[in-house]
Amino acid sequence: MRALVAGNWKMHGTSADLGEIVAIANASRAYPGVDVALCVPATLVHRATESVPGFAIGAQDVHHAEKGAHTGCISTAMLKDAGARLTIVGHSERREAQRETDPDIRAKAEAALSAGLQVILCVGESLEVREAGRAVEAVVAQLEASLPSTEFAHDALTIAYEPIWAIGTGKVAGPADIAEMHLALRDCLLRRFGDGACDVRILYGGSVKASNAAQIFAIDNVDGALVGGASLTAAEFVPIVAAAAVTG
Ligand code: PGA
Repeated sequence: MRALVAGNWKMHGTSADLGEIVAIANASRAYPGVDVALCVPATLVHRATESVPGFAIGAQDVHHAEKGAHTGCISTAMLKDAGARLTIVGHSERREAQRETDPDIRAKAEAALSAGLQVILCVGESLEVREAGRAVEAVVAQLEASLPSTEFAHDALTIAYEPIWAIGTGKVAGPADIAEMHLALRDCLLRRFGDGACDVRILYGGSVKASNAAQIFAIDNVDGALVGGASLTAAEFVPIVAAAAVTG
C-alpha cells in the first residue's frame, strides 16, 4: 500500500501562508511513491488548490447534509467546488469541542464518500481510557460505530489512529501499543469489508515529527501519518514525507 502523509493545519493559516503550501507541494514531488495531502482551513481550500494544481488539498470537516439551514456549516458540494479532494472527519478536537458522536461521524463519512471526496476518519482514546487498559476495546468500538455502511471504493477511505493524549503534547504511543492498535483496527476493517480492508490505509497521528517518523512508519499496519503541528512548515513536514518514502 502507498503511504499517505497528510497535514492537518487546524485553525492555522491565512493567505500569507500559501507560500508554505507551495513549498510543501514542490518538495513532495521528489517523493513520487508517497501520497501527500494538506487539510487546510476552509477559507484557504480554494486559494490553495489554485496555488498548487495537482496537489491534494483537503478540508478538516464537512456537514452530512447536502444543503439546508445549517449556519456556519460546509457541504460536500461546497468543498468539491472549492477544489478539495479529501476531508478529515471525526477528529478528536471536534468530537470533544463540538460534541460530535460516532453516528455523526458515520453520516459525514458516508456523505463525503458518496460525493467522491476521500475521507480520513479519526479515532483515538483518552488518557483515562488508556490507563484503564481499555484503549483497544474503546477505539475498535469507536471505529465500528463510525464506519460508513454505504457502498464506496475502499481506497477512498483512510483511518487515522490518534491517541488524544498524544496530540500536540510531544508524547507518542510506544511502538508495541501502536502495533497492537493498528492490528486491531485492521481486523475490524477485515470483518467489515473483507478483502477491501487491504485498500484502507491506517495512519498514526499525534506528535509525529521528523525525529520519530521513521520509527513509526516501520511499524506493521502503519500506512502513513496524520500530522498537525509539524505540517505547518515545509522545513518540518517534508522530512516526514521523506521518511515515508524510505520506510513506507
Ligand atoms: P499533532 O496533531 O501532530 O500536532 O500532535 C495531530 C492531529 O491532531 O491530527
